[in-house]
Amino acid sequence: MKLVVAITGASGVVLGQKFVDYLPEDVEAHVVVSDNALTVEHFENKRVTLHNAQNIAASISSGSFRVDATAIIPCSMNTLAKIACGISDNLPTRVAAVALKEQKKLLLAPRELPFSAIALENMHKLASLGVIIAPPVMGYYAKHQSLEEMERFIIGKWYDVLGIPNDLYNRWK
Ligand SMILES: Cc1cc2nc3c(=O)[nH]c(=O)nc-3n(C[C@H](O)[C@H](O)[C@H](O)COP(=O)(O)O)c2cc1C
Repeated sequence: MKLVVAITGASGVVLGQKFVDYLPEDVEAHVVVSDNALTVEHFENKRVTLHNAQNIAASISSGSFRVDATAIIPCSMNTLAKIACGISDNLPTRVAAVALKEQKKLLLAPRELPFSAIALENMHKLASLGVIIAPPVMGYYAKHQSLEEMERFIIGKWYDVLGIPNDLYNRWK
């Protein structure tokens, strides 16, 4: 599987980092970090291809590169708004535009509290186009004992919708 992961400048950048860290080895991961997320060092020695957020000529900016899925974790309200309006002025917004035009899986993890009506309208518009809107929502029914467990649960749910096999959390029986 070829996967693009974009990390934008919302709170919860660590969730995007861990999303990449837990990926199975057979996933070809392309990572792009927005200038406002400032977490590039984390990926420098990892088995991922790291792209510059301003490199609009990167392989992943073309539909012909044919990725299977794209995830933006976390997704700032700024990036969300640009995607909803069809703006692609950096690599994170471009990969989202590509996923939309190629009708590939696109998962956004918007992070804000509370959401404005504008953000909700943007999410609704994108959801109606088939985009998976999956904010980092905690699941108390699983009785997690630590933040790490809670994060693994959320990342496992994201993997599930993207079709990435995982045992990051205990499933409801
Ligand atoms: C400490 C800090 C926390 C932020 N948290 C959020 C957040 O949770 N959600 C959000 O949408 N924007 C947040 N922002 C604002 C974004 O970083 C800002 O809108 C930025 O322009 C996003 O750029 P990008 O979408 O290109 O990454 C935060 C900014 C700072 C400095």
